[in-house]
Amino acid sequence: MSDINLVNVDNELQKKQPRQILEYALDQFDNIAIAFSGAEDVVLIDLANKIKPKGFQVFCLDTGRLHPETYRFIEHVRAYYSVDIELLFPDAQAVEKLVREKGLFSFYADNHNECCGIRKIAPLKRKLLTVDAWVTGQRKDQSPSTRTGIPVIQNDANFSRPNETLTKFNPLANWSSEEVWTYIRALEVPYNELHDRGFISIGCEPCTRPVGPNQHEREGRWWWEEATKKECGLHANNIQKDQ
Ligand code: ADX
Ligand code: SF4
Repeated sequence: MSDINLVNVDNELQKKQPRQILEYALDQFDNIAIAFSGAEDVVLIDLANKIKPKGFQVFCLDTGRLHPETYRFIEHVRAYYSVDIELLFPDAQAVEKLVREKGLFSFYADNHNECCGIRKIAPLKRKLLTVDAWVTGQRKDQSPSTRTGIPVIQNDANFSRPNETLTKFNPLANWSSEEVWTYIRALEVPYNELHDRGFISIGCEPCTRPVGPNQHEREGRWWWEEATKKECGLHANNIQKDQ
């Protein structure tokens, strides 16, 4: 879709609820995948499963550094919804080289870019070359510095195939954390047990920590880095767009 048409569609979809946005996405695309992080974005799987069971793929970027609780949760979701969850692994040689040269915690000394590049972005690129559209659980309220302007639908030039534009949906963009959690509690959707221990935003174990009262959820991610750098590259278009 051209960028101009897409802006019009986005204007319309911005007024809709996540369920309607997902209905639109699943209606428009057969070859579409939900990116599931193992956190509260489980809401996307719950909704999609109600709209079009088996009509979507789900993948998770297994960095090798997720919490044990997250691995258990992924398996629970797989069984609970009878849904295939494709786990994408990083290139073994690239990980071995990084760890051999810089150790297991290089991101504290450098920054997270190199490790995220190998463990998340490269496998994501590989997967996105095989689909026409993807769906993420990004929300505007997740990051005051990078996510306040995210569209509900956008062209994702960062991961598109040559001559074929990949479409990206962010159906939860306009929901607050509270709305997500109201949905989870009301419909008894399964959730990651880390959420009961002060974790709001959940990523890799060494790069995620619980937050205290009145701390923003993003402060629990890559806390040793500046707020403006708290995107790992999955959603790089947020940075290009807003900064
Ligand atoms: S991140 O870029 O900072 O790591 P965040 O944790 O906020 O992202 O999650 C936003 C959305 O990105 C998730 O709802 C999900 O769609 C996608 N995402 C993040 N991490 C993963 C992952 N490990 N595997 C698959 N998708 C992910
Ligand atoms: Fe590596 Fe941390 Fe990025 Fe995970 S979040 S890929 S451990 S730098």
